[in-house]
Amino acid sequence: MDRTYETIKIERERDGVTWLVLNRPEKRNAMSPQLHADCNDALFHLATDPQTRVLIVTGAGDAFCAGQDLRLFFRGTDNAPRERFEAAENSHSWRWTRLSKFPKPTIAMVNGFCFGGAFTQLIACDLAVAADEAVFGLSEVNWGIIPGGVVSWNVVNAMNSRDAMFYALTGDTFDGREAARMGLVNFSAPLDKLREETLALARKLAAKNPATVRYTKEGVRAVRGMSEAQAADYLAAKSDALRFRDAEHGREEAMKQFLDEKRFRPGLGNYVRDDASAS
Ligand code: ACO
Repeated sequence: MDRTYETIKIERERDGVTWLVLNRPEKRNAMSPQLHADCNDALFHLATDPQTRVLIVTGAGDAFCAGQDLRLFFRGTDNAPRERFEAAENSHSWRWTRLSKFPKPTIAMVNGFCFGGAFTQLIACDLAVAADEAVFGLSEVNWGIIPGGVVSWNVVNAMNSRDAMFYALTGDTFDGREAARMGLVNFSAPLDKLREETLALARKLAAKNPATVRYTKEGVRAVRGMSEAQAADYLAAKSDALRFRDAEHGREEAMKQFLDEKRFRPGLGNYVRDDASAS
């Protein structure tokens, strides 16, 4: 039985797909201190939840997330240093530390408005999908603030540097199609197809060997900041660790299916996870 939260919902699909839904639709899912605390707690539990093989982060109603709650997160803690500190810690912890290190694949499904601080969880997720109609904006410049937390660092990593600077300086909005063109999301789809397309992607990932998927995402993330020599050494160690860690023995199984049984061709489809129950 899942915990229940004031500002978020946990919803489950078959096949190990779990939704983390920001649930303040009347405030366009703006992030209050309570929402940060709820998300932080939920991610801690979902990280080891055996029923969660893939996590999708999205928003209720017509917004993904309208950024930090200007009333509750900013103004509401201006004269409350302890509350500000706690909210900022939770905010960074779930949106970056816990989400970017989540041990299973993560997908941001941008169903509508995505502003300011919401770019952090957008980019923290391994993959992102947007509605064509979604509206993105680095609106901080309009509020007399900068894209803080780790938003500036994230956008300059995830976007072309000219695009990152352009949107940070102008605060102009852009839609889901443009986000896909820029590579900020993997693809966009019409809003009425978004859920179906996102679930198809999630199910594709959920069907794969979990240890290999985990080590792949950790490896791809980690090598960005390394030299070639560091990356080669790290990836060799990571490969060895995977063979120890993989309860399904996917390497041996895939080779057996290809070399001995001749029933698997990687160019024609995925190997069959006979031992999927081991995960
Ligand atoms: N903080 C606090 N409240 C918010 C926020 C926010 N970031 N975004 C929306 N709300 C509230 C509105 O104040 C309104 O509350 P009310 O019903 O009590 O008046 C409610 O959510 C609905 O918002 P509307 O503006 O009425 O909804 P609409 O659909 O017309 O517009 C939109 C949605 C475009 C998202 C608009 O609300 C907006 O521009 N919000 C601000 C987005 C933003 O700039 N966020 C970045 C904040 S800075 C940061 O994240 C670091």
